[in-house]
Amino acid sequence: MKVLVVGGGGREHTLVWKLKQSPRVTEIFCAPGNAGIARQATCVKISAEDIPALLAFAKDKAIDLTLVGPEAPLTAGIVDEFQAAGLKIFGPSRAAAEIEGSKVYAKEIMARYGIPTAGYAVFTSPEEASAYIQKSGVPCVLKADGLAAGKGVIIANDMATAQAAVKSIMVDRDFGEAGARLVVEELLTGEEVSILAFTDGDTVVPMVSSQDHKRAYDHDEGPNTGGMGAYAPAPVCTPEVALRATEEILIPMVRALKAEGRTYRGVIYAGLMVSGQAPKVLEFNVRFGDPEAQPVLSLLESDLVEIMEAVLEGRLDQIDIKWKNQASICVVLASKGYPGAYEKGKVIYGLDETPGDITVFHAGTAEKDGQIVTSGGRVLGVTATGPDIPAAISKAYTAVEQIRFEGMYYRRDIGQKALNRS
Ligand code: AMP
Ligand code: GLY
Repeated sequence: MKVLVVGGGGREHTLVWKLKQSPRVTEIFCAPGNAGIARQATCVKISAEDIPALLAFAKDKAIDLTLVGPEAPLTAGIVDEFQAAGLKIFGPSRAAAEIEGSKVYAKEIMARYGIPTAGYAVFTSPEEASAYIQKSGVPCVLKADGLAAGKGVIIANDMATAQAAVKSIMVDRDFGEAGARLVVEELLTGEEVSILAFTDGDTVVPMVSSQDHKRAYDHDEGPNTGGMGAYAPAPVCTPEVALRATEEILIPMVRALKAEGRTYRGVIYAGLMVSGQAPKVLEFNVRFGDPEAQPVLSLLESDLVEIMEAVLEGRLDQIDIKWKNQASICVVLASKGYPGAYEKGKVIYGLDETPGDITVFHAGTAEKDGQIVTSGGRVLGVTATGPDIPAAISKAYTAVEQIRFEGMYYRRDIGQKALNRS
């Protein structure tokens, strides 16, 4: 089977690595890929957002199955276009992907079907938004409606920040058209957890839980990033939390989407805030998380191709998905300055010195004059699996010490919340 993976970050390297283990897969292409992916697949110079070029490539190479990593092509309708051309592709349709593409739509569907989430109000006028916040007060959370690469969310603890956020999102349009509508939300407190699930539109099979580390610096300080590390499973997701997340959130959401004529097939990602044993939705994503995919797929025992086929054929209830009874963590090595401006082209040393049971997933790397250099804010994801979280942490950080590039920084406390609980 010939497979095409769309995207070029750490998540996509993990998908390629996992697909490579499938006896069903004969050839893997990745568009656009990166320097690490190039060691395991054929990279194709097509942007993940260039749907016509991806479609032409898939037809030309007679690709049997396409797997989409990032959200942008999904919300732009890549699945609909491939299916219309008779090609097999894994992921939700454009209509179903709106639960990530529009925060207003996500809040509305949750409200209609009683899915637990923060209270909210929606605005199309900055004056009305300002007046509402003035009255309802702070703290509050302000979110641009559309996709903003994880940056369109501002947590305001004081009125000046809240009012500045209204201006930034709606008037200055710092996130472009994503800011045409604004969601103002109640601030939730507790501990975050990511629960991803496979679904064929009827059956929902949750994966092992995971926890992202969104802030740039240790102890959850500094600006929000795409994610500086993750581990799985997450002890905050007790059996009761897992059960409630499945029964009160994931299953109702998949049923709701079907009822609305937007049947969801693919990976559904619920970003949750857990207080006590009660989970509430912070956001839905329509794909694997990055960096959650790195530890989660490291623990997946089953063949990913078998699961994807069961999803596409609507028989997810007939397969048994197996997980390793272990723990896994991913530590992201980032470029100085990220998530703001950073320099590229720094030579990466020590990549070949990591022990065999550690996987270094590439996120933002390129090859230049025979050397691997940095080409993104998140550069590498050092991922280790062990019998438990402490063992995985110790292995991962030992491997991190072997790698260096100018301006490299990383969090030293990935997994700490899991240790604090045990
Ligand atoms: P989102 O992209 O909606 O997940 O928001 C990014 C991050 O902002 C989340 O991972 C949370 O850390 C935080 N966040 C979003 N919404 C809320 C909320 N209602 N209460 C508290 N924190 C939130
Ligand atoms: N790690 C957060 C995300 O993938 O959206």
